[in-house]
Amino acid sequence: MRIDIISAVPDLMESPLNHSIIKRAKEKGLVEIHIINLHDYGHGNYKQIDDYQFGGDAGMVIRPEPLFRAITDLTSRREYDHVIYTSPDGEMFDQNMANSLSCCDNLIILCGHYKGIDHRIREHLITKEISIGNYVLSGGETAAIVICDAIVRLIPGALGDGSSALSDSFQDGLLSPPVYTRPAEFNGWKVPEVLLSGNPRLIQEWKHGMSIERTRLLRPELLDEGWEG
Ligand code: ADE
Repeated sequence: MRIDIISAVPDLMESPLNHSIIKRAKEKGLVEIHIINLHDYGHGNYKQIDDYQFGGDAGMVIRPEPLFRAITDLTSRREYDHVIYTSPDGEMFDQNMANSLSCCDNLIILCGHYKGIDHRIREHLITKEISIGNYVLSGGETAAIVICDAIVRLIPGALGDGSSALSDSFQDGLLSPPVYTRPAEFNGWKVPEVLLSGNPRLIQEWKHGMSIERTRLLRPELLDEGWEG
């Protein structure tokens, strides 16, 4: 899989995209992530990318030309499954969307910034707009990192233990059961007896029961959505 991220502040993404699971997935050749500096497609000596908005409201808007040049430079080289724009207006990101994006070969993620981007680019070049929640971030870079993290860990082979992505919260529409490690007793607080029983069937039943109980308690709307397996 290849992900090209177009950003006006590329340095923001360096660290999160070069650690942990994403780093390992890159090293294993499972994913390539390229960060493209929108200023490289900017105008004049100052590589300007933004301008005042028509209509007089405050806030700079990214001009269409650098966006057009950056996107078409990429799309002229290969086919992309999606040209994604990160925006609070977009479709809400969730595990189902992460699952389907993780099956793509090539993605562009354009990070929104300032007051937004010229709407003509959204109308003509963007194929999918994604929001990561009902709040406004200073820029779309944080959203792009969230999206990359959620999809890269789903690529087969990205996690050390291949089965653990399947047991994530939400993967079966339920929250994860609680987890414990040694010592079996700490401060007088005990690990549930069943986990020490060595009986895989009982342990699985307990975990599933806890998943349902926690989902009912903490996120009942997930059960209303009919996800319970
Ligand atoms: N850019 C600003 N806010 C955002 C959000 N909530 N989701 C995605 N991109 C954004």
